[in-house]
Amino acid sequence: MPDMKTLGEFIVEKQHEFPHASGELSSLLSSIRLAAKIVNREINKAGLVDITGSVGSENVQGEQQQKLDVYANEKFKSALEARDQVCGVASEEEDEMVVFNKELNRNAKYVVLMDPLDGSSNIDVNVSVGTIFSIYRRVSPVGGPCTEEDFLQPGNQQVAAGYVVYGSSTMLVYTTGNGVHGFTYDPSIGVFCLSHENMTIPEKGKIYSINEGNYFNFPLGVKKFIKFCQENVPSEGRPYTSRYIGSLVSDFHRNLLKGGMYLYPSTAAYPNGKLRLLYECNPMAFIIEQAGGKASDGTSRIMDIKPRELHERVPFFVGSTDMVDKVEALISENP
Ligand code: AHG
Ligand code: MN
Ligand code: MN
Ligand code: MN
Repeated sequence: MPDMKTLGEFIVEKQHEFPHASGELSSLLSSIRLAAKIVNREINKAGLVDITGSVGSENVQGEQQQKLDVYANEKFKSALEARDQVCGVASEEEDEMVVFNKELNRNAKYVVLMDPLDGSSNIDVNVSVGTIFSIYRRVSPVGGPCTEEDFLQPGNQQVAAGYVVYGSSTMLVYTTGNGVHGFTYDPSIGVFCLSHENMTIPEKGKIYSINEGNYFNFPLGVKKFIKFCQENVPSEGRPYTSRYIGSLVSDFHRNLLKGGMYLYPSTAAYPNGKLRLLYECNPMAFIIEQAGGKASDGTSRIMDIKPRELHERVPFFVGSTDMVDKVEALISENP
């Protein structure tokens, strides 16, 4: 068991790694930590309190908003607004960017993009869900309101990214560009404790995560990749194992620990893929590259894509490098 170190202590210890961030980024990560504890508490009571089910409204995605989507969105937004490091947020659950207008926010250096509750379809059936966040230095002048340009930066400009997985235990995993570190929540003392320092993904993966219900409309290269995974070639560890939870954070986290790849290609319902570039694909891409893996839209590096709009969707292939290389090769050979 690694020596008992809390997330707060670890952030301070690593503070020297955030160039010219003298404490702001540390404080920003602490506000995310606080909101994660509050959302975790509510998730653990779901079913006992009126926090499951939908609110009866649609979000900008055209999805039925779940009560926990809205609850998590409000908690993370207010935790970020309460401190003076963030000048605005963009969220899956907000049509437009949210400008924080208090004086203390206008002089802030950072913007945050988030998927406050990932895997909403799992809430009512007691299966793991998560939160995903992505942090950029603003490009607009300090002292004024944040602008859309602050949020439309390519993923290679992220200063930090992470996720919370509310699973059999609750974990917070993040990177600031100096490796990936995981912290497990101990509810008896209300603290995230360092449990997985310098996480790296096995280079060769044997697990693939995809909703095969969409098989009929997958691109030919993806169909060939699925057949590749299922071929009986024991010398290469095939057939691989299929695991799909229906929450990106949970599938991603398992694949990060064990090796594997998550795929969400274009489908009939989502011709550009379902996952959102800014607050699902980019943060997970930053994490996986820091852990030695790869993230692609099938032809190019996710973090080099120049975003055009907040809720832009892209096809997403993320995980062990050998598996992402293989699906890219099959896609290019079968246009
Ligand atoms: P969200 O709940 O934030 O809208 O994201 C759901 C995403 C992702 O978490 C999951 O892997 C995927 O949608 C599942 O989509 P399908 O149900 O179409 O397979
Ligand atoms: Mn959603
Ligand atoms: Mn999501
Ligand atoms: Mn969501």
